[in-house]
Amino acid sequence: MQDALFDLAVSIGNVTLRNPFIVGSGPTVKNLPQLELIEKCGWGAASTKQTYNPRPYISYDPRYRWLKKEKLHIFTAEHRLDMETGLRLVEDARKKCKELVIIANYSDAGDNLDSWEEGARRFEAAGTQVLELNFCCPNMSFSVDVSDQKAHVISSGASMGQDPEIVAAVVRRLRTALSIPIIAKITPEGGRIAQVAKAAIDAGADAVSGVANRLGIAPIDIRKYKKPIYNLQGENTMGCMSGPWIRPLAMRDVFEMRKLLGPVPHINGTGGIASMQDAVQMMMCGADTIGVCTETMLRGFGFLEKWMKALKVYMGEMGFEAARDMRDLLLPELKSAAELTLWGGYARVDKATCHGCGACVEVGHCDAITMVDGVAYVEPKLCKGCSTCIDICPKQSISMVEETAAAR
Ligand SMILES: Cc1cc2nc3c(=O)[nH]c(=O)nc-3n(C[C@H](O)[C@H](O)[C@H](O)COP(=O)(O)O)c2cc1C
Repeated sequence: MQDALFDLAVSIGNVTLRNPFIVGSGPTVKNLPQLELIEKCGWGAASTKQTYNPRPYISYDPRYRWLKKEKLHIFTAEHRLDMETGLRLVEDARKKCKELVIIANYSDAGDNLDSWEEGARRFEAAGTQVLELNFCCPNMSFSVDVSDQKAHVISSGASMGQDPEIVAAVVRRLRTALSIPIIAKITPEGGRIAQVAKAAIDAGADAVSGVANRLGIAPIDIRKYKKPIYNLQGENTMGCMSGPWIRPLAMRDVFEMRKLLGPVPHINGTGGIASMQDAVQMMMCGADTIGVCTETMLRGFGFLEKWMKALKVYMGEMGFEAARDMRDLLLPELKSAAELTLWGGYARVDKATCHGCGACVEVGHCDAITMVDGVAYVEPKLCKGCSTCIDICPKQSISMVEETAAAR
């Protein structure tokens, strides 16, 4: 199929992106050369680095770790933009970037709605096409709250994003003040992302976005536990986690939001996207657009071209014509645990390839496997069909025999 046959454009309110891929707010969207490169590489939009009003009270040089094996990114320190820098970035980007939609990622602190409005109006005047309200940053007041209950800092980011009332109050106020589309970017901390998203949409937001980030504790060297794994950092502290490991949780966030919000509101799915396949899965869970941050930190922006090519091949194979055709496909498929159909069956060992290592015999919850004449044997009557042996066998010598009768 030719490119023209695929409609990848997608809208947030009255603003249209040339495709659903957004560089998520973070360290790769904090200056003009980055935004120009993002445009050149074909992205649909970029959400600029968080601008904080008033001046951010935590804004340090970055301290990041990319734990390759775990596919986990974690950071403790990061620069936020102050108002003047954030506004100038948006102004400059609007002059230079004609195809890239500019989204300003902005937050005030606390419930001073006058101050929220003043900052938001300045961003609209600077030319941002969309305003993204940051109700998600876990590394400001939320990190302080979690680490030290005695500290009193004004609520911001993920501390505010757990409360549907305060999120709705801010959105309602800004909806009356602005004419550009508003995205509420919401934390999953607190476990109420769908309810908060609904409050934001009911209050007038045009879209909601997942963030996926969770606060966590990085692995610790148990012999030198006082020394953090971060380079050039004295103390251990909570870190903000992102990257591929988080994707199953991010997909759940989007799925829960879509289920509660219904088909109309725009959802930006963000968290752990590192391939075209990941992006499609996120759309299938309910996302209209796809936010990518960690992958751009590790690999820049040029990989989008490959993703777009692969996406078009996939869409052609599947008979999809528009980005919208992929959205929500998983919604009717995802059943509750009570509704599952489980087929009867049992694991069977291929004697020709089993080399008798005994790994499957060690499976702690299984009574069905023994060694017979130097190879593994599964007793069908005892096998419950769990599949652990299949996954741990180093020789791929075990497979499942499926019976037609349903089992429980
Ligand atoms: C170092 C770093 C800085 C970030 N800064 C911001 C920010 O300023 N504003 C924001 O809304 N999200 C911020 N995020 C969150 C990302 O935009 C994204 O939602 C999250 O990392 C999950 O996506 P990913 O796995 O693709 O990184 C940041 C993430 C990282 C890793």
